[in-house]
Amino acid sequence: MVPIIELKNVSKFFGHGKERVTAVDSISLAVEPGEIVCLVGESGCGKSTTGRMAAGLLPVSAGQVLFDGKDIAQMNRDELQTYRRAVQIVHQDPYASLNPTQTIRDIITAPLLHHKKVKDRTHAEKRARELLEIVDLTPVHDFMDKYPHQLSGGQRQRVSVARALTVEPKFIVADEAVSMVDVSIRVSLLNMLSRLKNEFDVTFLFITHDLALAKYFAWQGRIVVMYLGRMVEEGPTPRLITDARHPYTQALLAAVPEADPELAQHKRQIELRGAEIPSLLHLPLGCTFHPRCPYIVEGQCDVHVPRLEAIREGGSVACPVRKDESIQLVV
Ligand SMILES: Nc1ncnc2c1ncn2[C@@H]1O[C@H](COP(=O)(O)OP(=O)(O)OP(=O)(O)O)[C@@H](O)[C@H]1O
Ligand SMILES: [Mg+2]
Repeated sequence: MVPIIELKNVSKFFGHGKERVTAVDSISLAVEPGEIVCLVGESGCGKSTTGRMAAGLLPVSAGQVLFDGKDIAQMNRDELQTYRRAVQIVHQDPYASLNPTQTIRDIITAPLLHHKKVKDRTHAEKRARELLEIVDLTPVHDFMDKYPHQLSGGQRQRVSVARALTVEPKFIVADEAVSMVDVSIRVSLLNMLSRLKNEFDVTFLFITHDLALAKYFAWQGRIVVMYLGRMVEEGPTPRLITDARHPYTQALLAAVPEADPELAQHKRQIELRGAEIPSLLHLPLGCTFHPRCPYIVEGQCDVHVPRLEAIREGGSVACPVRKDESIQLVV
Protein backbone atom coordinates (compact mmCIF):
# COMPACT_ATOMS: atom_id res chain seq x y z
CA MET A 1 0.00 0.00 0.00
CA VAL A 2 1.24 3.51 -0.78
CA PRO A 3 1.54 5.47 2.48
CA ILE A 4 -0.82 8.43 2.64
CA ILE A 5 1.92 10.51 4.24
CA GLU A 6 5.56 9.65 4.29
CA LEU A 7 8.41 11.59 5.88
CA LYS A 8 11.81 10.68 4.48
CA ASN A 9 14.81 11.82 6.54
CA VAL A 10 12.97 15.00 7.45
CA SER A 11 14.82 17.58 9.54
CA LYS A 12 13.94 21.05 10.76
CA PHE A 13 16.47 23.65 11.85
CA PHE A 14 15.52 26.90 13.50
CA GLY A 15 17.79 29.92 13.86
CA HIS A 16 21.23 30.57 12.46
CA GLY A 17 24.89 30.23 13.40
CA LYS A 18 25.50 29.47 17.06
CA GLU A 19 21.79 29.80 17.78
CA ARG A 20 20.82 27.14 15.30
CA VAL A 21 18.84 24.26 16.79
CA THR A 22 17.79 21.01 15.21
CA ALA A 23 14.18 20.66 16.31
CA VAL A 24 13.61 17.56 14.18
CA ASP A 25 16.55 15.35 13.24
CA SER A 26 16.17 13.10 10.22
CA ILE A 27 12.82 11.48 10.91
CA SER A 28 11.50 8.80 8.60
CA LEU A 29 7.92 7.73 9.07
CA ALA A 30 5.36 6.24 6.71
CA VAL A 31 1.68 6.34 7.64
CA GLU A 32 -0.55 3.87 5.82
CA PRO A 33 -4.12 4.81 4.91
CA GLY A 34 -6.45 4.01 7.81
CA GLU A 35 -3.62 3.74 10.31
CA ILE A 36 -3.53 5.58 13.64
CA VAL A 37 -0.07 6.80 14.52
CA CYS A 38 0.63 8.52 17.80
CA LEU A 39 3.66 10.75 18.30
CA VAL A 40 4.66 10.98 21.95
CA GLY A 41 7.47 12.59 23.89
CA GLU A 42 8.26 15.36 26.34
CA SER A 43 7.59 19.02 25.68
CA GLY A 44 9.93 20.50 23.08
CA CYS A 45 10.96 17.17 21.50
CA GLY A 46 9.66 18.25 18.10
CA LYS A 47 6.21 16.66 17.89
CA SER A 48 4.33 19.75 16.68
CA THR A 49 7.13 20.66 14.28
CA THR A 50 6.92 17.15 12.79
CA GLY A 51 3.10 17.37 12.55
CA ARG A 52 3.26 20.80 10.92
CA MET A 53 5.76 19.59 8.34
CA ALA A 54 3.57 16.55 7.58
CA ALA A 55 0.61 18.91 7.08
CA GLY A 56 2.62 21.21 4.81
CA LEU A 57 2.30 24.15 7.19
CA LEU A 58 6.04 24.37 7.74
CA PRO A 59 8.72 23.82 5.09
CA VAL A 60 11.27 21.09 5.79
CA SER A 61 14.94 22.06 6.19
CA ALA A 62 16.06 18.72 4.77
CA GLY A 63 14.36 15.55 3.54
CA GLN A 64 11.07 14.98 1.80
CA VAL A 65 7.37 14.86 2.61
CA LEU A 66 5.37 12.59 0.31
CA PHE A 67 1.60 12.64 -0.01
CA ASP A 68 0.12 9.60 -1.75
CA GLY A 69 3.61 8.73 -2.94
CA LYS A 70 4.35 12.15 -4.44
CA ASP A 71 6.94 14.60 -3.08
CA ILE A 72 5.06 17.77 -2.13
CA ALA A 73 8.06 19.85 -3.25
CA GLN A 74 7.52 18.56 -6.80
CA MET A 75 3.76 19.15 -6.90
CA ASN A 76 2.05 21.51 -9.32
CA ARG A 77 -0.60 23.97 -8.11
CA ASP A 78 -3.55 21.63 -8.49
CA GLU A 79 -1.78 18.77 -6.72
CA LEU A 80 -0.74 21.07 -3.90
CA GLN A 81 -4.30 22.25 -3.48
CA THR A 82 -5.54 18.66 -3.30
CA TYR A 83 -2.87 17.87 -0.69
CA ARG A 84 -3.69 20.95 1.40
CA ARG A 85 -7.35 20.03 1.52
CA ALA A 86 -6.68 16.38 2.19
CA VAL A 87 -4.47 17.10 5.19
CA GLN A 88 -5.96 19.08 8.06
CA ILE A 89 -4.62 19.93 11.47
CA VAL A 90 -6.59 20.27 14.70
CA HIS A 91 -4.75 22.31 17.31
CA GLN A 92 -4.43 22.14 21.04
CA ASP A 93 -6.13 25.44 21.67
CA PRO A 94 -9.30 25.88 19.66
CA TYR A 95 -9.72 29.29 21.27
CA ALA A 96 -6.73 30.54 19.34
CA SER A 97 -7.74 28.92 16.07
CA LEU A 98 -11.45 29.85 15.93
CA ASN A 99 -12.35 33.38 14.87
CA PRO A 100 -14.05 34.94 17.94
CA THR A 101 -16.19 37.28 15.81
CA GLN A 102 -17.80 34.48 13.80
CA THR A 103 -20.75 32.34 14.81
CA ILE A 104 -20.41 28.59 14.63
CA ARG A 105 -22.64 28.73 11.52
CA ASP A 106 -20.14 31.06 9.79
CA ILE A 107 -17.13 29.06 10.94
CA ILE A 108 -18.50 25.91 9.32
CA THR A 109 -20.29 27.29 6.25
CA ALA A 110 -17.45 29.58 5.09
CA PRO A 111 -15.00 26.80 4.13
CA LEU A 112 -17.85 24.74 2.59
CA LEU A 113 -18.70 27.66 0.28
CA HIS A 114 -15.09 28.69 -0.30
CA HIS A 115 -14.01 25.22 -1.38
CA LYS A 116 -17.23 24.76 -3.37
CA LYS A 117 -18.21 21.68 -1.41
CA VAL A 118 -21.84 22.83 -1.62
CA LYS A 119 -23.97 24.53 -4.28
CA ASP A 120 -25.30 27.46 -2.29
CA ARG A 121 -26.02 28.84 1.20
CA THR A 122 -28.99 26.55 1.75
CA HIS A 123 -26.86 23.48 1.13
CA ALA A 124 -24.05 24.92 3.23
CA GLU A 125 -26.45 25.34 6.14
CA LYS A 126 -27.68 21.77 5.75
CA ARG A 127 -24.18 20.36 5.57
CA ALA A 128 -23.07 22.45 8.57
CA ARG A 129 -25.89 20.93 10.60
CA GLU A 130 -24.87 17.43 9.55
CA LEU A 131 -21.25 18.09 10.51
CA LEU A 132 -22.19 19.45 13.95
CA GLU A 133 -24.25 16.34 14.49
CA ILE A 134 -21.32 14.15 13.47
CA VAL A 135 -19.14 15.76 16.15
CA ASP A 136 -21.96 15.35 18.70
CA LEU A 137 -22.82 19.05 19.08
CA THR A 138 -26.52 18.43 19.52
CA PRO A 139 -29.19 19.72 19.47
CA VAL A 140 -27.60 21.51 16.56
CA HIS A 141 -29.85 24.60 16.68
CA ASP A 142 -28.48 25.35 20.14
CA PHE A 143 -25.03 25.87 18.65
CA MET A 144 -25.43 27.42 15.20
CA ASP A 145 -25.78 31.03 16.39
CA LYS A 146 -23.30 30.87 19.25
CA TYR A 147 -19.82 32.39 19.29
CA PRO A 148 -16.74 30.38 20.30
CA HIS A 149 -16.49 32.07 23.71
CA GLN A 150 -19.99 30.86 24.57
CA LEU A 151 -18.88 27.24 24.33
CA SER A 152 -16.88 25.03 26.66
CA GLY A 153 -13.34 23.94 25.72
CA GLY A 154 -14.55 20.50 24.69
CA GLN A 155 -17.34 21.97 22.57
CA ARG A 156 -14.92 24.35 20.88
CA GLN A 157 -12.67 21.45 20.06
CA ARG A 158 -15.65 19.69 18.43
CA VAL A 159 -16.24 22.81 16.32
CA SER A 160 -12.58 22.71 15.22
CA VAL A 161 -13.00 19.10 14.19
CA ALA A 162 -16.26 19.87 12.31
CA ARG A 163 -14.46 22.68 10.51
CA ALA A 164 -11.61 20.36 9.55
CA LEU A 165 -14.19 17.90 8.18
CA THR A 166 -15.72 20.50 5.81
CA VAL A 167 -13.00 19.82 3.24
CA GLU A 168 -13.39 16.02 3.55
CA PRO A 169 -9.83 15.39 4.72
CA LYS A 170 -8.03 12.09 4.29
CA PHE A 171 -5.45 12.77 6.97
CA ILE A 172 -5.84 14.68 10.24
CA VAL A 173 -2.98 15.80 12.43
CA ALA A 174 -4.51 16.13 15.91
CA ASP A 175 -1.92 18.09 17.89
CA GLU A 176 -2.63 17.77 21.62
CA ALA A 177 -6.26 17.97 20.50
CA VAL A 178 -7.67 16.82 23.83
CA SER A 179 -4.96 18.06 26.19
CA MET A 180 -6.68 21.28 27.21
CA VAL A 181 -10.03 19.77 28.15
CA ASP A 182 -11.07 18.13 31.39
CA VAL A 183 -10.15 14.52 31.81
CA SER A 184 -13.83 13.54 31.89
CA ILE A 185 -14.40 15.07 28.46
CA ARG A 186 -11.24 13.67 26.91
CA VAL A 187 -12.63 10.19 26.57
CA SER A 188 -15.74 11.32 24.72
CA LEU A 189 -13.63 13.47 22.39
CA LEU A 190 -11.30 10.55 21.75
CA ASN A 191 -14.24 8.28 21.05
CA MET A 192 -15.63 10.84 18.63
CA LEU A 193 -12.28 10.97 16.80
CA SER A 194 -12.13 7.17 16.66
CA ARG A 195 -15.58 7.12 15.12
CA LEU A 196 -14.46 9.55 12.41
CA LYS A 197 -11.61 7.26 11.58
CA ASN A 198 -14.00 4.40 10.94
CA GLU A 199 -16.89 6.29 9.33
CA PHE A 200 -14.93 8.72 7.19
CA ASP A 201 -11.81 6.77 6.44
CA VAL A 202 -9.62 9.41 7.99
CA THR A 203 -6.04 8.55 8.85
CA PHE A 204 -4.75 10.10 12.08
CA LEU A 205 -1.46 11.42 13.28
CA PHE A 206 -2.27 11.94 16.93
CA ILE A 207 0.23 14.03 18.87
CA THR A 208 0.36 13.94 22.65
CA HIS A 209 2.86 14.20 25.49
CA ASP A 210 0.67 11.78 27.43
CA LEU A 211 1.47 8.11 26.87
CA ALA A 212 -1.75 7.07 28.62
CA LEU A 213 -3.78 8.96 26.00
CA ALA A 214 -1.71 7.45 23.20
CA LYS A 215 -2.38 4.01 24.60
CA TYR A 216 -6.12 4.64 24.72
CA PHE A 217 -6.43 6.24 21.29
CA ALA A 218 -3.95 4.15 19.33
CA TRP A 219 -4.34 0.67 20.78
CA GLN A 220 -5.07 -0.60 17.26
CA GLY A 221 -2.28 1.52 15.83
CA ARG A 222 1.30 2.46 16.38
CA ILE A 223 3.21 4.70 18.76
CA VAL A 224 6.28 6.66 17.78
CA VAL A 225 8.40 7.97 20.67
CA MET A 226 10.51 11.07 20.11
CA TYR A 227 13.33 12.45 22.21
CA LEU A 228 15.08 15.74 21.39
CA GLY A 229 14.05 15.68 17.76
CA ARG A 230 14.86 12.04 17.07
CA MET A 231 12.75 8.91 16.91
CA VAL A 232 13.94 6.55 19.63
CA GLU A 233 11.37 3.78 19.38
CA GLU A 234 8.27 2.89 17.42
CA GLY A 235 6.02 -0.10 17.22
CA PRO A 236 2.51 -1.48 17.48
CA THR A 237 0.92 0.06 20.58
CA PRO A 238 0.37 -3.20 22.53
CA ARG A 239 4.03 -4.18 22.08
CA LEU A 240 5.34 -0.74 22.90
CA ILE A 241 3.23 -0.47 26.05
CA THR A 242 3.83 -3.96 27.40
CA ASP A 243 7.36 -4.55 26.16
CA ALA A 244 9.05 -1.17 25.71
CA ARG A 245 12.74 -1.50 24.91
CA HIS A 246 14.23 1.99 24.78
CA PRO A 247 15.14 3.22 28.28
CA TYR A 248 13.44 6.54 27.48
CA THR A 249 10.18 4.81 26.53
CA GLN A 250 10.45 2.78 29.73
CA ALA A 251 10.94 5.97 31.75
CA LEU A 252 7.87 7.53 30.11
CA LEU A 253 5.83 4.43 30.89
CA ALA A 254 7.05 4.34 34.46
CA ALA A 255 5.85 7.93 34.84
CA VAL A 256 2.26 7.17 33.78
CA PRO A 257 0.12 7.30 36.92
CA GLU A 258 -1.47 3.96 37.70
CA ALA A 259 -5.09 4.10 38.84
CA ASP A 260 -4.99 0.70 40.47
CA PRO A 261 -3.10 1.04 43.80
CA GLU A 262 -2.21 -2.63 43.72
CA LEU A 263 -0.52 -2.22 40.35
CA ALA A 264 0.96 1.13 41.36
CA GLN A 265 2.70 -0.46 44.31
CA HIS A 266 4.37 -3.02 42.10
CA LYS A 267 5.24 -0.70 39.32
CA ARG A 268 8.90 -0.75 38.61
CA GLN A 269 10.61 2.61 38.43
CA ILE A 270 13.41 3.35 36.04
CA GLU A 271 16.13 5.19 37.91
CA LEU A 272 17.32 7.87 35.54
CA ARG A 273 20.75 9.34 36.16
CA GLY A 274 19.40 12.85 35.63
CA ALA A 275 16.03 14.47 35.25
CA GLU A 276 17.31 17.43 33.26
CA ILE A 277 16.50 17.45 29.54
CA PRO A 278 19.51 18.84 27.66
CA SER A 279 19.05 22.05 25.69
CA LEU A 280 18.77 21.73 21.92
CA LEU A 281 21.59 24.28 21.76
CA HIS A 282 23.98 21.93 23.56
CA LEU A 283 23.02 18.43 22.53
CA PRO A 284 25.08 15.58 23.97
CA LEU A 285 27.14 13.60 21.48
CA GLY A 286 26.13 10.09 20.51
CA CYS A 287 22.76 9.03 21.89
CA THR A 288 21.22 12.25 23.23
CA PHE A 289 19.60 10.26 26.05
CA HIS A 290 22.91 8.94 27.37
CA PRO A 291 23.40 11.54 30.17
CA ARG A 292 20.12 10.37 31.72
CA CYS A 293 20.32 6.69 30.85
CA PRO A 294 20.92 4.10 33.58
CA TYR A 295 22.22 1.59 31.02
CA ILE A 296 24.91 3.78 29.45
CA VAL A 297 27.86 1.97 27.93
CA GLU A 298 30.71 4.43 27.93
CA GLY A 299 32.65 4.68 24.72
CA GLN A 300 29.58 3.57 22.80
CA CYS A 301 26.49 5.55 23.83
CA ASP A 302 28.36 8.83 24.25
CA VAL A 303 30.08 8.45 20.90
CA HIS A 304 27.81 6.83 18.33
CA VAL A 305 24.38 8.04 17.28
CA PRO A 306 22.20 4.93 17.53
CA ARG A 307 20.13 3.97 14.50
CA LEU A 308 16.63 2.58 14.57
CA GLU A 309 16.84 -1.17 14.26
CA ALA A 310 13.91 -3.49 13.72
CA ILE A 311 13.09 -5.94 16.49
CA ARG A 312 11.38 -9.28 16.09
CA GLU A 313 8.47 -8.38 18.37
CA GLY A 314 7.44 -5.48 16.11
CA GLY A 315 8.66 -1.98 15.38
CA SER A 316 12.15 -0.63 15.89
CA VAL A 317 14.40 0.71 18.62
CA ALA A 318 17.33 3.15 18.52
CA CYS A 319 19.31 1.51 21.30
CA PRO A 320 21.78 -1.24 20.41
CA VAL A 321 22.42 -1.83 24.13
CA ARG A 322 18.85 -2.53 25.22
CA LYS A 323 16.87 -3.35 22.11
CA ASP A 324 16.71 -7.05 22.88
CA GLU A 325 16.11 -6.70 26.64
CA SER A 326 12.56 -7.19 27.85
CA ILE A 327 11.77 -5.85 31.28
CA GLN A 328 8.46 -5.98 33.02
CA LEU A 329 7.46 -2.60 34.32
CA VAL A 330 4.45 -3.90 36.18
CA VAL A 331 4.92 -7.20 37.98
N1 LIG B 1 9.27 28.90 15.02
C1 LIG B 1 10.25 28.49 15.81
N2 LIG B 1 11.40 29.16 15.96
C2 LIG B 1 12.40 28.72 16.75
N3 LIG B 1 12.33 27.60 17.46
C3 LIG B 1 11.20 26.86 17.38
C4 LIG B 1 10.10 27.27 16.56
N4 LIG B 1 9.11 26.33 16.67
C5 LIG B 1 9.59 25.40 17.52
N5 LIG B 1 10.83 25.72 17.94
C6 LIG B 1 11.65 24.91 18.86
O1 LIG B 1 11.71 23.60 18.36
C7 LIG B 1 11.66 22.65 19.41
C8 LIG B 1 10.53 21.69 19.17
O2 LIG B 1 9.30 22.37 19.32
P1 LIG B 1 7.89 21.68 19.14
O3 LIG B 1 6.85 22.72 19.29
O4 LIG B 1 7.88 20.89 17.87
O5 LIG B 1 7.86 20.67 20.38
P2 LIG B 1 6.66 19.79 20.95
O6 LIG B 1 7.20 18.39 21.07
O7 LIG B 1 5.45 19.99 20.12
O8 LIG B 1 6.47 20.37 22.42
P3 LIG B 1 5.13 20.57 23.29
O9 LIG B 1 4.83 19.23 23.90
O10 LIG B 1 5.54 21.57 24.31
O11 LIG B 1 4.06 21.06 22.37
C9 LIG B 1 11.51 23.46 20.70
O12 LIG B 1 12.77 23.57 21.28
C10 LIG B 1 11.02 24.79 20.23
O13 LIG B 1 11.46 25.82 21.08
MG1 LIG C 1 3.56 20.78 20.52
